[in-house]
Amino acid sequence: MTDPGTPSGRSAPASPGAAGADAGSVTIKVRKNGSLLVIGDFLLVDHEGREIPRPVGKPNVALCRCGQSANKPFCDSTHKTCGFMDPPEAGREPPPGTGSAGAPSA
Ligand code: FES
Repeated sequence: MTDPGTPSGRSAPASPGAAGADAGSVTIKVRKNGSLLVIGDFLLVDHEGREIPRPVGKPNVALCRCGQSANKPFCDSTHKTCGFMDPPEAGREPPPGTGSAGAPSA
């Protein structure tokens, strides 16, 4: 199914969780005390699956992680002035009460 209405001409995914890019072709880098840098070929969609055009001329996209950007979902560097800080070892600590990093226990 092709959606000619999308700026990229790519098909919109059936759901946001089914974004169309190859999983292996995208790298998401968590920047220290900052944004999520998305590197690779991917489709960014809103909560209804509509494509959000990527900034023109930028091969990579920085997504806001601090919640303070005036241009969400993109980072506008507000994280540098709002005091956003990574929690220690973000993403590596198991959620409280699970005893694991979110993976099912064996
Ligand atoms: S992470 Fe940069 S503005 Fe939020």
